[in-house]
Amino acid sequence: MRELVFATNNLHKTQEVSKLLLGQYKILNLNDIGCDVDIPETGNSFAENATLKSQYVVDHYQIDCFADDSGLEIAALNQEPGIFSARYSGVRNDQENLNLVLQKMKGQSNRKARFRTVISLVRNQEHFLFEGIIYGNIRETPFGTQGFGYDPIFEPEGYTQTFAEMSMEEKNKISHRALAMNKLITFLKEQA
Ligand code: IMP
Repeated sequence: MRELVFATNNLHKTQEVSKLLLGQYKILNLNDIGCDVDIPETGNSFAENATLKSQYVVDHYQIDCFADDSGLEIAALNQEPGIFSARYSGVRNDQENLNLVLQKMKGQSNRKARFRTVISLVRNQEHFLFEGIIYGNIRETPFGTQGFGYDPIFEPEGYTQTFAEMSMEEKNKISHRALAMNKLITFLKEQA
């Protein structure tokens, strides 16, 4: 069976994709290929950072690879935190990052935001990008205990709950990551 690396250390993400590609691809993660390097994400966009990660694996391990990069973009903050989502406050801490967003959004009437994921796939030396976007609004106060990151302050358009109030199954039906991943899976199945 063809092997494909998912450039992540997140076992949960790897297992989910493995299930969707069962019988078609054997999905390996960074740990499986013995890659313990913190691959530099020095790009200026989600696409650049995802591409840096996937290309790094192809260059160093010669196995086809895909990588994802995601974040929250807020219209009133010039699309910040964007590529800095994971450490917006200066530290990799969900609570502090979320607090900083709420502080910057105080008194702001335009609450429009979107979560975006870009997946970069390098396959047979060809490069492909897949994008998933979900639009919504930033709440004034956090709600819910599920999920991670900015979930408690993001209410998707057409819903009355934040991501953090939804079950994982519900969120996974509509999330930016799921949308991008579905595009990747569809593409891989068509190419198989
Ligand atoms: P990553 O590229 O998937 O690691 O995401 C980078 C950062 O964006 C995370 O550390 C979170 O702060 C934020 N983020 C990405 N996706 C989500 C999400 O689904 N919910 C909440 N925060 C997210």
